[in-house]
Amino acid sequence: MPLLTTEYLTADDAGIARAAELLRQGRLVAFPTETVYGLGADARNGEAVAAVYAAKGRPSFNPLIAHVASVEAARRYVQWSDAAEKLANAFWPGPLTLVLPLREGHGISSLVTAGLDTLAVRVPAHPTARQLLAAFDGPVAAPSANPSGRISPTTAEHVRTGLDGRIAAVLDDGPCGVGVESTIVGLADEPTLLRPGGLAAEEIEGVLGKTLRHHETGDPLSAPGQMLSHYAPDAPVRLNAQARRGDEILLGFGPVDCDLNLSEAGSLTEAAANLFSALHALNETGRPIAVTPIPDHGLGVAINDRLRRAAAPRNT
Ligand code: TXA
Ligand code: MG
Repeated sequence: MPLLTTEYLTADDAGIARAAELLRQGRLVAFPTETVYGLGADARNGEAVAAVYAAKGRPSFNPLIAHVASVEAARRYVQWSDAAEKLANAFWPGPLTLVLPLREGHGISSLVTAGLDTLAVRVPAHPTARQLLAAFDGPVAAPSANPSGRISPTTAEHVRTGLDGRIAAVLDDGPCGVGVESTIVGLADEPTLLRPGGLAAEEIEGVLGKTLRHHETGDPLSAPGQMLSHYAPDAPVRLNAQARRGDEILLGFGPVDCDLNLSEAGSLTEAAANLFSALHALNETGRPIAVTPIPDHGLGVAINDRLRRAAAPRNT
């Protein structure tokens, strides 16, 4: 693919206006959200969405999340429900994605939904993302702004490392606060946790007043395109390590002796915010990576999910 000159835009009025103009032209713009940087395209423009798959080198057409400015905007594209209303009231804008049946006349490209009759929608909380959505005034399809299968980006520099020369622009507004992707809840059927993420499942269950169904591996309801090997550094990753072996570099959590600590204080929120930056940094050392145990509740569920995928046997 011929290389483009990627524009690096500051998140001021001029930068946001330029980013919105590029999106209107069907070009690809990476932008910050509170979870990770997204690679945005006009969700109604099939060619623009196809270019997202090409830039990321996604092996197949996995469904993407449509980012919108408000609940009202979301309701233009999906069939709303009581559960959706409850969750949107409680958690939007924020790190929660809802999967709902498409509405007739929605206008969303079938490349966004990968031909499914449901759409994943989210109202992000990051002020720059919100300003971009307001300026663009339409739905923005955005997967994480990294080459397929690699570590997700939480800084503009991570986006540059992975996608420079393959996308029109990067809107730079510093590191992302949450640090792991949104929690995805399927509401087309019984409320189901499709992907653990930046909003703890316990909080969602508290608002719904019931337990979320958890998808099993191989379950057709599981979020399609959730590859087992994902977020992969170049070197192997070993989980639940008590100590270094051989040449390993040790990523820790809590009061442990290690090379890099996700949160010395043992905060899962802080660990989530640091996770992908830590993996990017350890990746640069070229050494095999070992990780000490991380509690499996709250945001720890999302952290462990990403680490398991980083440690999984590689697809290629
Ligand atoms: O935090 C996030 O969610 C970030 C930021 C940029 O918003 N985006 C993100 O997108 O993580 P991506 O493409 O890396 O993950 C989207 C996942 C897909 O892999 C798929 O599992 C699920 O969302 N998904 C999308 N549409 C779906 C649908 N109709 N039904 C079930 N799962 C769907
Ligand atoms: Mg991703």
